[in-house]
Amino acid sequence: MESFLIKGGVPLHGEVTISGSKNAALPIMAATLLTDEPCVIRRVPELSDTRFMTQILGSLGATATLENGTLTVHAKKINDYADYDLVRKMRGSVCIMGPLLGRLKRAQVSLPGGCIIGARPINLHLKGFQALGAKITIDAGYVTASAKQLTGTSIFLGGRAGPTVLGTANIMMAATLAQGITVIESAACEPEVVDLAQFLNAMGANIVGAGSPTITITGVAKLHGAEHEVIPDRIEAATFLIAAGATKGEVTVKGARAEHLRAVIDKLAEAGVSVERSGANMIARRKGKLKPVDITTLPYSGFPTDVQAQMMSLMALAPGISIITERIFESRFMHVSELARLGADIEIEGPSAIVKGGKPLNGAPVMASDLRASAALVIAGLAASGETQVNRIYHLDRGYEQMDAKLRALGARIRRVEE
Ligand code: EPZ
Repeated sequence: MESFLIKGGVPLHGEVTISGSKNAALPIMAATLLTDEPCVIRRVPELSDTRFMTQILGSLGATATLENGTLTVHAKKINDYADYDLVRKMRGSVCIMGPLLGRLKRAQVSLPGGCIIGARPINLHLKGFQALGAKITIDAGYVTASAKQLTGTSIFLGGRAGPTVLGTANIMMAATLAQGITVIESAACEPEVVDLAQFLNAMGANIVGAGSPTITITGVAKLHGAEHEVIPDRIEAATFLIAAGATKGEVTVKGARAEHLRAVIDKLAEAGVSVERSGANMIARRKGKLKPVDITTLPYSGFPTDVQAQMMSLMALAPGISIITERIFESRFMHVSELARLGADIEIEGPSAIVKGGKPLNGAPVMASDLRASAALVIAGLAASGETQVNRIYHLDRGYEQMDAKLRALGARIRRVEE
């Protein structure tokens, strides 16, 4: 297994170009199953997750190739059964259910397991499919949705933690080929949902309201092929803005959309990291001492849960008390014990982490546990004195394209080694 070896204490300086969004790309890749015509998707980040999704499309019978960030897919004929081994490895693949149900009126996928950040149920996805007229059966670890036909209806998709991003994506995709009009209430408003809706409309779907809590889909008989460029990854952009602040550097983040990051930019300003917009770029720089801030993760456009761990690393450096409350997932604090190994003083109280920031961080071997926790450990290692080895970096490779190369170009002393 590979690790990152980081010699900390170097302020990051220079420019970094943000890749396409993993969380926009995955459902858009799944949406290509809705048509028997070819599709071309550009700015797809080359990650283990997108390579898995490319394999899953192939296992369903499509021809799919991902090369130099461009995915070409032709799902001329597809089957309704997804390879268990592939699907269970990446829970994001649950978003193939909606397209399979929409096009074939049947979908069978392995129940996506939970993961280290939470149980990750799909009850809301299944509620939406049933509302459209599908029969749901769960047997031997597989969930099957089947329907004679899908009929538009009104669906409330809000759950115990608010809207569901991939649930909204799944129902929106299935509804594009349903008879009649479907209204999704309490829909997720994330930019990735908007990007998916734009691709579906380019395929001939009729979707209005994406980005708002109410999305209306008027079913059509067929969808055609289309081309699309994926939006930039707002979570990757946030990660680099935070790394600039943590290392007292100055980094120009290119190709991201500041309007997708308002909550993060607001909190960074409060913490003493200014993010200045210059044209299509953002320049992050540290202004003096860091200040502690309180954060609660919320559905979009609130502070994103996918930036919580990275922000905690920054707050470990800010003298004073910061309270970070995680409202989306039930156990997204796996990075706390690893940050403690670097000298951070953090206590968990239920859904909140109490960060007593300002203690110096010193390098040590740490273990990545999930995608965003590993990014948090890299940020902490860049700010710590001495050497930090971040093990099990395959977690990070799921969602960050060439992070080590991008950081080295900013002056970081980081290299990939065999553990
Ligand atoms: C998407 O996951 C993202 N993944 C996650 O990013 C992100 O953290 C999450 O949205 C929230 O923003 C992709 O887009 C591939 P949810 P998703 O359904 O759609 C509960 C990353 O680091 N829930 O919005 O699976 C659920 O347990 C990843 O890039 C139900 O109760 O998340 C959670 O508490 C991690 N029932 C909350 O809703 C359901 O049927 C939000 O989950 C579905 C979800």
